[in-house]
Amino acid sequence: MPGVFIVLEGGEGSGKSTQARLLYTRLMQEGALPLLLHEPGGTALGEQVRRLLMAERGGGQQRRQGGIEPLTELLLFSAARAELVNKVLHPALEEGRTVICDRFTPSTVAYQGYGRGLPLDTIATLNTLATGGLWADLIVLLDMAPEEALGRVAAQQSLLEVTEKAGERGGRQDEEGLRRFEQEPMTFHRKVRQGYLEQAAADPGRWLLVDGGLPPEHIAEVIWGRVEGLLNRPAP
Ligand SMILES: Nc1ncnc2c1ncn2[C@@H]1O[C@H](COP(=O)(O)OP(=O)(O)OP(=O)(O)O)[C@@H](O)[C@H]1O
Ligand SMILES: [Mg+2]
Repeated sequence: MPGVFIVLEGGEGSGKSTQARLLYTRLMQEGALPLLLHEPGGTALGEQVRRLLMAERGGGQQRRQGGIEPLTELLLFSAARAELVNKVLHPALEEGRTVICDRFTPSTVAYQGYGRGLPLDTIATLNTLATGGLWADLIVLLDMAPEEALGRVAAQQSLLEVTEKAGERGGRQDEEGLRRFEQEPMTFHRKVRQGYLEQAAADPGRWLLVDGGLPPEHIAEVIWGRVEGLLNRPAP
């Protein structure tokens, strides 16, 4: 039986990585063999694309100052995704593993489509090409006002700076967030949120909309309620 595929989505700082880790731990406790992935990344090429996108800041606003073109950005994310799906994700699902992915195709629709304004049909075509039509069984949307979520990221960053200055050995580093879109204006983040909400509304059976402002343990319980049902689903 093919494994269950779960995707976590939401804006910067909405709690995707926190929930991905909590779900991974829970699945381990239940004796499942989960696999935790993030986008872009998870393959040698994907990690290189991630580093490239982190180094090449800007895009929308700073494009005129040499940032990456929105179409180039879309193609880079898609290239990393094609590697991940074909080399890692698909084989893991075929082995029956439960795969958690921190961002997937809905991010491309929200950021490059609604945020950057690239045509949604182009994005749909590229997403289908990169994934071979693979869809998640469950997409969790951690919905939050961007002002609030970005405030969390800023607090996290200043905490990291303080611990670094204090010279803590092996000082903490946040290597998870892409930190690519944070300097975009609030209008960009509002469009991204709208993009997520519209995708969720169009496919309510697959999406689980959660208030990202709730306590992490509370959110984890809501997510677990849905995941448990998927794990115990009858064979087709
Ligand atoms: N439900 C929550 N309530 C309060 N704080 C939270 C919650 N979830 C996560 N946080 C905190 O908010 C910050 C961002 O969380 P996290 O890194 O999980 O978000 P993210 O969606 O993965 O962000 P990014 O898009 O940058 O990768 C962290 O400092 C985390 O501890
Ligand atoms: Mg994250």
